[in-house]
Amino acid sequence: MPAARNSSIPIPTPPGAGGSVQPSACRRPAVGRGGPEDVNGKAHTGKAPTNGRLAGLCGVHPTSGVRARPFVKWAGGKRSLVPDLLKHLPDTIEEYWEPFVGGGALFYAIENRITRAHLSDANPELMIAYKMIQQHCDQLVEKLKAHRCRHSPRHYKVIRGKDGIEDPIERAARFIYLNKTCFNGLYRVNRSGRFNVPIGRYKNPAIVDADNLRAVSATLKEADLQRQLFDAIAPREGDLVYCDPPYDETYDQYTAHRFNSEAQQHLAKCADGWRKAGAAVIISNSDTPFIRKLYKSVHWTIHTAKAAGTINCRAEDRGDRNETIITST
Ligand SMILES: C[S@@+](CC[C@H](N)C(=O)[O-])C[C@H]1O[C@@H](n2cnc3c(N)ncnc32)[C@H](O)[C@@H]1O
Repeated sequence: MPAARNSSIPIPTPPGAGGSVQPSACRRPAVGRGGPEDVNGKAHTGKAPTNGRLAGLCGVHPTSGVRARPFVKWAGGKRSLVPDLLKHLPDTIEEYWEPFVGGGALFYAIENRITRAHLSDANPELMIAYKMIQQHCDQLVEKLKAHRCRHSPRHYKVIRGKDGIEDPIERAARFIYLNKTCFNGLYRVNRSGRFNVPIGRYKNPAIVDADNLRAVSATLKEADLQRQLFDAIAPREGDLVYCDPPYDETYDQYTAHRFNSEAQQHLAKCADGWRKAGAAVIISNSDTPFIRKLYKSVHWTIHTAKAAGTINCRAEDRGDRNETIITST
C-alpha cells in the first residue's frame, strides 16, 4: 500500500498539563536496576566527553553530563551505521529533516550541528513519547517509576492490553515501559494496530533512565515533532533530509500499514522532489536489486555499507548483511 498523502495527525495534550509533579510512591532503591542498553542488550554509559566542548550544548544534561541518545530500543536502529552516514553529510546544514525517525540514532550524533530539527514518524505511540519527553519529562519519569515498581509478567500483560489510553503522558509511559521490557525491544503491531510482542527475558530492565530522558528533553527543546507520513515534509534549499525507511525485503511491522514496494517507489519520487528543491538527501536501505534499480540515475550515488543485522528474531537469520547509503549528487 502506498503511503497516504500528507497526513499530519495531531499529538494530544495531557489534561492539566504543566501542573506539579507527584513523586512516585515506590521507594525501591535505584541500585541494581540495570543500566541503559541498546537493542542487542549491550550496556553503554552515554557519558558526554569531558573536554568541555559539549558542556552547555542542548544535548547534554547540565548536572549529570549525560549526552542524549535514543530513548527506545528500535528495530532497524542505525547506531552501527552512524559512522558510515557521517561520511556523507554536507558541510553545512540549514534545517534537518528525519521523516522515519524511529530511535533517531543519527539525529543524536549530529544534533550539535543542527539549528532546527524536524523529526517525524508514522508511529503514533512513538511520536507521542517524543512530544511528552519534550514537554512533560518529569511527569513521564514519575509514571515510569511507577511501572518499574509494579513490573512483573502480569503487569506487562495488563499494560500491553491497555490500548485506548487517553492521557498522552500515561500513553508515552506505557510505550516506553513496553519497549524496555518486551522481547528484544521489538515494536510490532498486528494489522489492527495492536502491540503484540511478548515479554522479554530481562533480569533488571532499564525502565527508567531519567538522566537520558532529561538530556533527550533538552535536545528536543526546539524540535518540530510530528506524527505523519514521510511525504508530508517540505525541506528547502540547504536543508538535509535523512530517510531511513523500513528496509526492502525486511521487517516492516512498525505500523499497521506495511511498507511495500509501492511505498519504496513513492519515497524515491518524493526524494527526487526534495533533491530538486535544493535539499541534500541521504537514504539508507537494504542492498537489493530493486533498490539499486530505483535509484539508478545520475542524480543519485549508491554506496555500500555493511551493518550487523539486529531485526530478525531467529539467531540464525541474523548476521552481517549489506546496506546501501544513497546520496543525492
Ligand atoms: C528503520 S526504522 C527507523 C530507525 C531509525 N533510523 C533509528 O535509528 O532508530 C523505520 C521507521 O519508519 C517508520 N515508518 C514506517 N512507515 C512510515 C511512513 N509511511 N511514513 C513515515 N514513517 C514510517 C516506522 O515507524 C519506523 O520508525
